[in-house]
Amino acid sequence: MSLRPILLHPDPRLKKVCPPVSSITDDVRRLADDMLETMYHAPGVGLAAPQVGEMQRLFVMDCIKEENEAPRPMVLVNPEITWKSDDNSTYEEGCLSIPEHFADVTRPSRIRMRWLGLDGKTHEQEFDGLWATCAQHELDHLDGKLFIDHLGPIKRQLITRKMIKFKRDQARKT
Ligand code: NI
Repeated sequence: MSLRPILLHPDPRLKKVCPPVSSITDDVRRLADDMLETMYHAPGVGLAAPQVGEMQRLFVMDCIKEENEAPRPMVLVNPEITWKSDDNSTYEEGCLSIPEHFADVTRPSRIRMRWLGLDGKTHEQEFDGLWATCAQHELDHLDGKLFIDHLGPIKRQLITRKMIKFKRDQARKT
């Protein structure tokens, strides 16, 4: 396993719609392992393949927050939402590609998602709470959408301008 560099917004690769994964290969398993390691190391609760520059429909997540609870790493390949609740929840979201910026985003409270597992089988499960928010946030990434795209244009442009400056300062340091 190895850590992968995480792309920072703005980056054209974070704006693209990713094509589906055609089959579970060793390369896909290796990518998923690397993404989980990168996510836990960051640390974060979710990471999508395009965030490490891999244009494929795949994300990882683990929303276990309690320190005494066992980790629950999940890998979702070709995920799709099969049902959304009518009621919404608002969470303060962040993103490993937009570090140190947070904003309230409203999304359906519960969703049902279907995906291909690394075992090659189709899985379907209902998510609620932080898991539902995270799964929708990560699925957005596979469609080239960031959480700031759910905000108004002024807030979005402010964060984008700060990120451009942040990236410029980082590039100068290295
Ligand atoms: Ni994100």
